[in-house]
Amino acid sequence: MKVAPSLLSCDFSKMGEEVLRVEKGGADWIHLDVMDGHFVPNLTIGPGIIRSLRPHSSLPFDVHLMISHPLRYIDAFADAGADIITFHVEAESDILQTIEKIRSRGVRPGLVLKPATPAEAVFPYLELVDVVLVMTVEPGFGGQSFMADMMPKVRTLKQEIVSRGLPVLLEADGGISAATIAVVAEAGIDVSVSGTGIFKAPDAAAAIKALQNP
Ligand code: DX5
Ligand code: ZN
Repeated sequence: MKVAPSLLSCDFSKMGEEVLRVEKGGADWIHLDVMDGHFVPNLTIGPGIIRSLRPHSSLPFDVHLMISHPLRYIDAFADAGADIITFHVEAESDILQTIEKIRSRGVRPGLVLKPATPAEAVFPYLELVDVVLVMTVEPGFGGQSFMADMMPKVRTLKQEIVSRGLPVLLEADGGISAATIAVVAEAGIDVSVSGTGIFKAPDAAAAIKALQNP
């Protein structure tokens, strides 16, 4: 299991050090949550902060766009140093155009599903993306309870990916901690995002290790 700490729960007054802390703790990716106050009822960070963090880490930057018009901002996030850009299938930008734009910038594209969105919504794009991210909370805030009822959707996606023989990684995001990781792993997730489960743990390195070895 790969683990992507979500900086949403870190100390925002020292983000550079927080990135270093989880990188030293064995993190696989760094998960960056971008919110626009429109697609979700919260505001977070933009390309400026991501650009500032880029020299502080050599890990892949996994940028999760919770914004209504992702296509308008792909260049900005690619320039900032994103390695993976995921955007919501429920957003307003044209999905094919947005995937193509991300690829054209040498970044790995991914699609995200809100809890109410069925697995089938991403089936037409599975050949075109590197990642499918399944939300296991309503997007917008860290520290919410894990939705175990998303696991049938994860299994449906896994089956489809395996039956088509695709290299797509399945990622889950929201409420993942030592208490919920076994269920996530069993359903077939390859990459787990965790915010409070890592940054609010007494020992971030131990929390990362526990998630990597469910
Ligand atoms: C929620 C974000 C998540 C969030 C996860 O909208 O996409 O990445 O930070 O935080 P936890 O692990 O605390 O649920
Ligand atoms: Zn996220």
